Amino acid sequence: MMSEKLLKEFNDQLRYEFESANYYLAMAGYCKDQDLEGFANFFLVQAEEERFHAMKFFNFIDETGGRIEISGFGDPQNDFSSLEDVFTAALKHERFVTSRINEMMDIAVQEKNYACVSFLNWFIDEQVEEEATMTGLINKLKRIGENNHAIYMLDNELAQRTFTPPAGEA
Ligand code: FEO
Repeated sequence: MMSEKLLKEFNDQLRYEFESANYYLAMAGYCKDQDLEGFANFFLVQAEEERFHAMKFFNFIDETGGRIEISGFGDPQNDFSSLEDVFTAALKHERFVTSRINEMMDIAVQEKNYACVSFLNWFIDEQVEEEATMTGLINKLKRIGENNHAIYMLDNELAQRTFTPPAGEA
């Protein structure tokens, strides 16, 4: 059972995770408009991951006897000036999500709610990975610059990305 304060944070985070999926769908749309199908695939897979994150919050709230509440969110950014701009926006967003998860962890620790601490630990690790992925791609894009051949190669590489839920969580 969660305190009202934590329950509100968890329901807010459920919304933020779905909002993240929308952010990444918008980024996939931008990449498709540039005929960069591999980059678009990267963001489509990212959107799937975010829906998976959202459903983890949905299921955890339910399992701990909380009331699930779905609320709306604003329009995502649809226009970008370059691929580097897209990934910079993605990293900024992931950093925001990391700060949210950290704040929730602080509350869970303060309230000695160890079930929430254990649940949030998975997200702490996940955020390290997500930020590293975005940072890695920004660095690659900086190195590549305007080299169309290298962008084509990276597009091919990102076309291979698939979504695989962790074992036992499909
Ligand atoms: Fe659900 Fe990308 O954080």
